[in-house]
Amino acid sequence: MKQHRRQFLKSLGLGTATGILLARGQSAALSAPLADIAHDPLRPELHLMPPHNWMNDPNGPIWWKGQYHLFYQLNPHAAVWGDMHWGHAVSPDMIRWRHLPIALAPTPGSADSEGCFSGSAVVFDGKPTFIYTGVQNAPPSETTIHDGNDKLRETQMLAVAEDDQLLNWKKLETPIIATPPQGIYVTGFRDPCPWREGDAWYLGIGSGERGIGGCVLLYRSHDLRHWEYLHKLVQGKPNGLVAVNPCDSGEMWECPDFFAVNGHHCLLYSTENQVFWTTGEYDTLRHLYIPMRTGVLDHGSYYAPKSFLAPDRRRILWGWIRETRPEAQFAPAGWSGAMSIPRVLTINSDDELEMNPAVEVETLRGAEESSTLQPGAPLKQTLTAFRRELLISIGDAKPKVAVRLLTQGSVVWELLLDASAHLVTCGSIEFALPSRLKSDDVLRIFIDASVIESFIAGREALTSRVYTLQPAKTELQIELITETALKVRQWPLAAISPDRLTT
Ligand code: FRU
Repeated sequence: MKQHRRQFLKSLGLGTATGILLARGQSAALSAPLADIAHDPLRPELHLMPPHNWMNDPNGPIWWKGQYHLFYQLNPHAAVWGDMHWGHAVSPDMIRWRHLPIALAPTPGSADSEGCFSGSAVVFDGKPTFIYTGVQNAPPSETTIHDGNDKLRETQMLAVAEDDQLLNWKKLETPIIATPPQGIYVTGFRDPCPWREGDAWYLGIGSGERGIGGCVLLYRSHDLRHWEYLHKLVQGKPNGLVAVNPCDSGEMWECPDFFAVNGHHCLLYSTENQVFWTTGEYDTLRHLYIPMRTGVLDHGSYYAPKSFLAPDRRRILWGWIRETRPEAQFAPAGWSGAMSIPRVLTINSDDELEMNPAVEVETLRGAEESSTLQPGAPLKQTLTAFRRELLISIGDAKPKVAVRLLTQGSVVWELLLDASAHLVTCGSIEFALPSRLKSDDVLRIFIDASVIESFIAGREALTSRVYTLQPAKTELQIELITETALKVRQWPLAAISPDRLTT
């Protein structure tokens, strides 16, 4: 969080605006024209993004009346963070999207006058209902964000859908939770995550305390309007860093997501610029969660994910793919941030979180190009379109395989998987290769312009950003550094829109 809404709008010369909907063709201050964006070869073509400007966290995913709805943190004025609204897109298959008007905008003079931060959607009383965090300027004694920068008070807000297209949302005028629990001097108080349990509703809120660590605060309600604070659902630890921003030191957890998958409980939270998964035991009598296993959900540029239950009971996860280039480069480009492809979450018999691309992604595949890769005979091909899926069998032997992208002969991205050393390396990022590879385990890589999502045996993931791809000048190489041949399958992938505006 960097700039207040009013300061931000003033810097754009917009005054205090109310929910501005930017239709296609309209461009906002600081933004590149849509025509430029549509021809920007670095802009992804099969990941959901707003037609232009900034997006961050996925918000309130929900399946309603036969359609998937996804909302997301949107700045409708520029390709930088600020003035948070909820953007809205709808899809029949979680892949092909149609942009809809902004769902939530700050209401001047109210508890969300400075922004509508992240939150969730549930169905209550037959109506889709958002629970989200509103932010408002406040005197120092009332602020809840203590990051050395913001002077904002966070409260939890509610809005109810007024139509089945989920276009109009009626906000409750007053917050449903106005202050953090008494006696806790929070580092932050946001990103509500509700669930139904027995005959009650429960709500986790991302928070933390200096010196004690990030945590999830737990509340209970019967009508979503009146909430009783219970206790902390779970308490983390600081990482020892002395940091002004409590998110850097593990003293603030953002975007908690708590759910059960195949009978096991799982909590995701974002802090220290990473997303952590935990699986563990949830004591439903005392309403306490005890994490038993933990890991990093994605080792790359991926943050603040949010899951939902698809109608076929799959637990689907969406995440924010951040830019890694400087703001001075992405702001003039007119777009920033993309939504990851949908990932299906399961928990395996070792209580590890597993994550695989939803099968719907395969509907983008063109004609298959497969081959058997022999040691000493690298596969080399020049890419004209940067939309490609690779699927490499890694379970059979002890593979050592390098997948590279080279632009004009220089390596711009390389993923090295070494089963003997139990290591995966990508530039400066290193992590352990999952142990005990099964015979059908695969490395799956989705290349989409500047976004590369890699899934390793369904147990590790890495989202990379590469800004140096050039049509007809970038080469893909897959090299085996091992004795055994490997099967490599490839598909060109279709774009989800005729231009790069993803709608
Ligand atoms: C995570 C986050 C959330 C907050 C939102 C604001 O990226 O900081 O905690 O609700 O973004 O845009």
